[in-house]
Amino acid sequence: MPLQTVLVTGANRGLGLEFVRQYREAGWHVIATSRPLDEGVRARDCGAELLQLDVRDEGAIHALAHALEGRKIDLLINNAGYHPGAHQLGELDYSSWQTAFHINVIAPLQIAEAFLPVIPPGGKIVNIGSRQGSMACNREGGRYLYRATKAALHSITRSLAIDLTKRGIIVVALHPGWVKTDMGTDSADIEVEESVSGMREVIADLGQHNTGHLINYDGAVIPW
Ligand SMILES: NC(=O)c1ccc[n+]([C@@H]2O[C@H](COP(=O)([O-])OP(=O)(O)OC[C@H]3O[C@@H](n4cnc5c(N)ncnc54)[C@H](OP(=O)(O)O)[C@@H]3O)[C@@H](O)[C@H]2O)c1
Repeated sequence: MPLQTVLVTGANRGLGLEFVRQYREAGWHVIATSRPLDEGVRARDCGAELLQLDVRDEGAIHALAHALEGRKIDLLINNAGYHPGAHQLGELDYSSWQTAFHINVIAPLQIAEAFLPVIPPGGKIVNIGSRQGSMACNREGGRYLYRATKAALHSITRSLAIDLTKRGIIVVALHPGWVKTDMGTDSADIEVEESVSGMREVIADLGQHNTGHLINYDGAVIPW
């Protein structure tokens, strides 16, 4: 099998770094992007090609796309994400809404659009969504901003999936589970290893039949 290439955003820690570690172990070429380059050192130590990207910087996204011209990205993982702190009515912090929408919604679409020329037919775009962005699964309320950003990301995923079917590119949103990272906290259900190995299996099995879906790390489809 020819060498496969994956590009992972937000690869300096958490799920992003674990994607880097596992894809390198599986023999892939990994392009890891990190907001501060010096914090991407662990990704580089895994053998990844490390590039700097603050996903809020549109100019940097286009510069990176330009730098990748002539190359092939088989798998793009829009992983970088932001979870604002205040969740409940009465404590909402509206000053963080623009930042959250920029990182969780606008950036993944800008990145997918800018990198399309290097994603071949059969290539895959994975947006790391969340069950918390599923309206069907929302029984608890609260978490207004995070849920809204992930629901918007899911909507983008669906449109991209439809628009890119004719190019043979598969697009899904994946829910990683509730995972022990800085974002998920130590109270979370599962370790990064389990989440990422599950998501890698799901990604490996993706076909046109499941493009445009929100899928759990164990392969179950989650309703929108
Ligand atoms: N953990 C969970 O339980 C869980 C559940 C559902 C979905 N998710 C999603 O999974 C993804 C990864 O989360 P995680 O749990 O690994 O969280 P994490 O440990 O907090 O890592 C978040 C990553 O996103 C990066 N990032 C944030 N803003 C960025 C920006 N402007 N430019 C570039 N990178 C930026 C961070 O980089 P810096 O170090 O530079 O901040 C970091 O690498 C996110 O999309 C998250 O919403 C997580």
